Amino acid sequence: MSVVIVGTQWGDEGKGKIVDLVTERFDVVARYQGGHNAGHTVILKGKKYVLHLIPSGILHPEKACVIGNGVVLDPFALVEEFKFLEEQGIELEGRLLISNRCHLIMPYHTALEAAEEKRLDKNKIGTTSRGIGPCYEDKMGRRGIRLDELFMPEVFAQRVRDNVAFKNQILTRVYGWKPLDADEIVDRYQALVPTIRPYVADTSDYLNQVIREGKRVLFEGAQGTLLDVDHGTYPFVTSSNATAGGACIGTGVAPSEIRGVIGISKAYTTRVGEGPFPTELNNEIGEKIRDRGQEYGASTGRPRRCGWFDGVVVRYAAQINGLSTLVITKLDVLDDLDEILICTGYRYRGQLLEHFPTTIQVLAEVEPVYESHPGWKEDTSTIKDYRDLPEAARRYLDRLSELVETDISIISTGPDREETIVLEESPRLQKMFA
Ligand code: GDP
Ligand code: IMO
Ligand code: MG
Repeated sequence: MSVVIVGTQWGDEGKGKIVDLVTERFDVVARYQGGHNAGHTVILKGKKYVLHLIPSGILHPEKACVIGNGVVLDPFALVEEFKFLEEQGIELEGRLLISNRCHLIMPYHTALEAAEEKRLDKNKIGTTSRGIGPCYEDKMGRRGIRLDELFMPEVFAQRVRDNVAFKNQILTRVYGWKPLDADEIVDRYQALVPTIRPYVADTSDYLNQVIREGKRVLFEGAQGTLLDVDHGTYPFVTSSNATAGGACIGTGVAPSEIRGVIGISKAYTTRVGEGPFPTELNNEIGEKIRDRGQEYGASTGRPRRCGWFDGVVVRYAAQINGLSTLVITKLDVLDDLDEILICTGYRYRGQLLEHFPTTIQVLAEVEPVYESHPGWKEDTSTIKDYRDLPEAARRYLDRLSELVETDISIISTGPDREETIVLEESPRLQKMFA
C-alpha cells in the first residue's frame, strides 16, 4: 500500500514538514523526481533540517528511505547531505537506498545551464542552477550516465570522455565558454565510489518487495504541480513530473499500488523564479507575507514571490493529482491581516475562464476574480483542535475546501511538528492511514 504527497502550487508548500509529520504511519519514504533543486525544511525540537535529496522521512530513525530512479543525482550534493546528517547523529547505513537507475548530474550540466540562462537573459527561467534541466535532457536524449555506470570504472571513463567531447563543442562554439577536462571529472567522481556504493540498489525491486510484505510506502514529491514539465506553467517549470503520476514512473511501483494522494497547499501562494503568477502581490501585503512566512528559498535563498490563495490553481492540482485530501500549511502567516482575498476564477478578455489555461500567454493576461474575507486577527499557532480556531479562520478554510472540491484534513499553523491540527476523524485520512 502506498500514498503520494504532492505540492499543489509552485513548490515550497511545506511538503517536508508534512512528510515528517505523517512518516510515523509508514515504513518507507521514497523520493521520485527532481534533484537537489528541492529544499524541504523540517523543524524538530527547535532544530532546522533542510533536505535536498534524501527524503524527509530520514529524521525518523526506524524508517527506511529511498531515492528512486526518477531522481537526478549530483553525487557531491549527496555526499554533502550524508555529512550533514551524520553530524546531526542520524545514522544512514541500512536505512537509505539509492536507485542504480538514477541519472548523474555532471559538471557539463551545470555549465550548460548557466550558459543557457545567460543567453536567455531577460527571458531566463530563473532555475536553481543545479544542472537539473540539462541532466533530464540527456536522460531523454539517451546519452545520460546512470549511477550503475559509476561502478564500472572503464565504462564510466569512456562515457564521460564521449559526453565531455560533445558538450565541449557546445560550450565553446555555441556559448563561447571554456571547455571542461574529462579526466579531472572522472577522477573526482570515482573518488566518491566507496562512499556511495553501499547505498545503491535496484530500488524498484526493493519497493515492490516491501509492498508485497504488506508494508506502507510514502512517496515524497518535490517541487509542485505548476512546476510539472507537462502540466505546469511551461516553459517556466522544472524538468520532471512533480505530479502524483510521477511517483509510479520515478520508482517503478504500479498505479494499482497507490491508495491515495495528499495535496499540500499554503494558505496563500508563493513562487520562486520567473513565470506568470496571477495572484502575485507586488505591494506591502506581499512583503508582509514574505516577512512573516520567512519566504526565502530553502535551496537558493532567493526571496519568494508572494500572493493570495489561487483557487483555480489548487482546483486544477486536485484534478491532475486526483487528490484524496488537502493539507493547508502556514495558516498562521495570515493571522494578523485585516482582510484576506481568495481568487475564485480568472477573467480573460472579459470572459470568465472555466479551466486553468494551457498557455502562459493567456495566464499572463488573466485577471483574478477575488472575494474578500475578514481576517481573524488572532494567534493560531498554539491551537490543537479545529473547533478552537477563530470562526473567520474556519470560514476561510471551508471556502478553500469548497473551491478546491477536496476535504481538508490537516492544518499547519507553524513550522514545528507540534504546530499542527490533524482532523483525525476525517474519513479520507483514516482510509489512507488504515
Ligand atoms: P517544501 O519544499 O514544500 O518542503 O517547503 P520548504 O521547506 O521549502 O518551505 C516551507 C517553509 O515553511 C519552511 O521554512 C518550513 O519550516 C515553513 N513552514 C512549514 N509549515 C509552516 C506553517 O504552518 N507555518 C509557518 N509559519 N511556517 C511553516
Ligand atoms: P521544493 O521541492 C520551488 C523552480 C525554480 C525555477 C524552476 C526551474 O523545495 O518545493 P530547476 O532548477 O528545477 O530547473 O528550476 O523551478 N523550482 C522550485 N521552486 N520549490 C522547489 O522545490 C523548486 N525546484 C525548482 O525556482 O523557477
Ligand atoms: Mg522547498
